[in-house]
Amino acid sequence: MKKQWWHDKVAYQIYPKSFCDSNGDGIGDIPGIISKLDYLKELGVDIVWISPMYKSPLADQGYDISDYYSIDPRFGTMEDMERLIMEAKRRDMYILMDLVVNHCSDEHEWFQKAVQDPDGKYGNFFYIRDRKEGEPLPCNWRSYFGGPVWEPLPGHPDKQYLHVFHKKQPDLNWENPEVREEVYKNIRWWMEKGLGGFRIDAIINIKKKLPFSDYPADRDDGLSYIGNMLEEAQGIGDFLGEMQEKAFRPYQAFTVGEVFNAKEEEIKNFIGDDGYFSSMFDFAGTCYGKSGKGWYDSRKYLTPDEYKSCIFQTQRKIGDMGMISNIIENHDEPRGVCHYIRPEDLCEASKKLLAGVYFLLKGLPFIYQGQEIGMENMKFTSRDEIDDISTLDEYQVALDAGKSEEEALEMASAFSRDNARTPMQWDAGENAGFTTGTPWLHVNPNYTSINVAAQKDDEDSVLSFYKKLARLRKNPVYKDTLVYGECIPYLEEEENLIAYERAGEKRLLILANLQKDSKTVALPAPAEEVLLNNLKIVNFTDETRQEIALAPYQFVVVEIL
Ligand code: NOJ
Repeated sequence: MKKQWWHDKVAYQIYPKSFCDSNGDGIGDIPGIISKLDYLKELGVDIVWISPMYKSPLADQGYDISDYYSIDPRFGTMEDMERLIMEAKRRDMYILMDLVVNHCSDEHEWFQKAVQDPDGKYGNFFYIRDRKEGEPLPCNWRSYFGGPVWEPLPGHPDKQYLHVFHKKQPDLNWENPEVREEVYKNIRWWMEKGLGGFRIDAIINIKKKLPFSDYPADRDDGLSYIGNMLEEAQGIGDFLGEMQEKAFRPYQAFTVGEVFNAKEEEIKNFIGDDGYFSSMFDFAGTCYGKSGKGWYDSRKYLTPDEYKSCIFQTQRKIGDMGMISNIIENHDEPRGVCHYIRPEDLCEASKKLLAGVYFLLKGLPFIYQGQEIGMENMKFTSRDEIDDISTLDEYQVALDAGKSEEEALEMASAFSRDNARTPMQWDAGENAGFTTGTPWLHVNPNYTSINVAAQKDDEDSVLSFYKKLARLRKNPVYKDTLVYGECIPYLEEEENLIAYERAGEKRLLILANLQKDSKTVALPAPAEEVLLNNLKIVNFTDETRQEIALAPYQFVVVEIL
């Protein structure tokens, strides 16, 4: 792997609506983000990805953009954005924006013009097809947020348009070179403003299998999961290669793709030395245990051994081919500590353990806001507390499948995207210090105990543990090993133990005992030094320091000879 400027960095995701509100309107904003840059710097963050802040009706919380060249007034102004980029630079930090170009908003000028004249230039910016009463849809794909992907074109009962997400998110027609040029122009415009790069949204959907056709129905609604079509769509590389060459490469942009289904043979094309993207997220854990029927039928959390199999599967697949980006949560997922730790094992120590396990894998660690203080899922008690469109759909799917309201709420508490979107918990004051107004989404009631203020001066807090992890990854003595060293699973068959070696200039052994019982582990070589420990003591059981009795939930990083 060719070395790149961003390889040894630590990244952080901000969900702007819920991060920090500076003006009391209940919605986080750019000045709020600027006020927290020092906090992020101290945490050890270098790269900050901010979910969309462009002008938007916020039907999908900003992933429905109505103007790619302006900032939504609820988040601030373009001057605020420029100041944010500059303030980040002053601190040697890089800002990533979200590139949402599979679709735009139905309120975008392009779509409005397409509606005015479906046969004109902008009609061809979208997928618009004829519609006749009583005739089947052009295809039976199910939109990600439920229902068919086809929607009548406003004012044209004889026409319909395609949206693989919400009906307010019409898909852009990437087959049209004019669309692609518009996208590249926009990327260059933002890069000229001094961005570090982009996180690239839903990108795998830009290539459709054409002409439209049906796939076997996989639910009672007669529709078919979009993934079935994506499996067969060929040629996305032509678009991505062009985007890389025309828009990213000239700026050495750092790009991280939301890629769910890269086939093994495609990984090199995606994130190899000359790949379309710098990196892409590892979603192996995210996808594990998800049922085609819906959330109600999916696994609420993973066992330690299932989680272990996910991370090692990815590590083996990627090897030295490129740099994957490691996550345990993001704005579309429940809180990592509630998904990758069994409820009976959830405690301060296990939160730190999970942090250590994923953070020190080979790859770029991304921290999602609030993860660094161990924020947890929300307990939803009524449907009215749910904001997210995807959760509302899954809620209905659960009811239709015969689940009770109580079960559907339990399901939401385990999977809802709102779990990650509750306001950031800064302190124990009103609204967790997020806003002086009324927060747009309920604050998790546990903010009185889980918050930044309570943790920042406590050496043993989850927050301090994240700082230690970032420091270790950047320590000049260990950096090369932690960034480029091989990741070799260790004692993989041992139940509830997650262990691996990072082997480079140094040999570092990462040991995590994710269970309520102690576990004695033989090391492959004598221990030299204990570099990190989530508990107070390390119990070597022999004189040569080649065996450790790990306490329940203990996590240690040991340098071995
Ligand atoms: C993925 C984003 O992360 C998610 O929040 C959004 O709803 C969809 N893409 C559509 O843009």
